[in-house]
Amino acid sequence: MTEIRMRVNGTTERLDLEPRVSLLDALRDHLALTGTKKGCDQGACGACTVLADGRRINSCLALAVQYDGCDITTIEGLDHPLQEAFVRHDGLQCGYCTSGQICSAVGMLAEHEAGAPSAVTPPDGTALTDAEIRERMSGNLCRCGAYNGIVDAIREVAA
Ligand code: FES
Repeated sequence: MTEIRMRVNGTTERLDLEPRVSLLDALRDHLALTGTKKGCDQGACGACTVLADGRRINSCLALAVQYDGCDITTIEGLDHPLQEAFVRHDGLQCGYCTSGQICSAVGMLAEHEAGAPSAVTPPDGTALTDAEIRERMSGNLCRCGAYNGIVDAIREVAA
């Protein structure tokens, strides 16, 4: 067992974990934060996205011990305009991908504000176009196909 400490949603948590435990399993099984979902468990769907020191990561691909001393934010710890925008714009259907979509979108907006380019960033580097939203959110899949509502919600909050 390895002892780690993380700040999770503003609370310092001390965990004794086997080094092989993923951050996703640590959050869900050891801290009962089940808002973060397990979809593929192999980095393909984005359902498990959380923020680690403000950066979005797939928590299924991360070992919890790698995040010793880090600040983790899950959907339970978010209070962001995107959450209501997703509701207003029907950015969900079954809801399974939603927490990952919202955590990813929060991280994406911060990346954009910090000037990180994407593959389709316009030459002036300023506008967050629909194409850019789709490209930057391409790591988050929605099997219900609620993409139009998701893009509408993000566009509204980004404006
Ligand atoms: Fe982590 Fe799918 S559960 S990317």
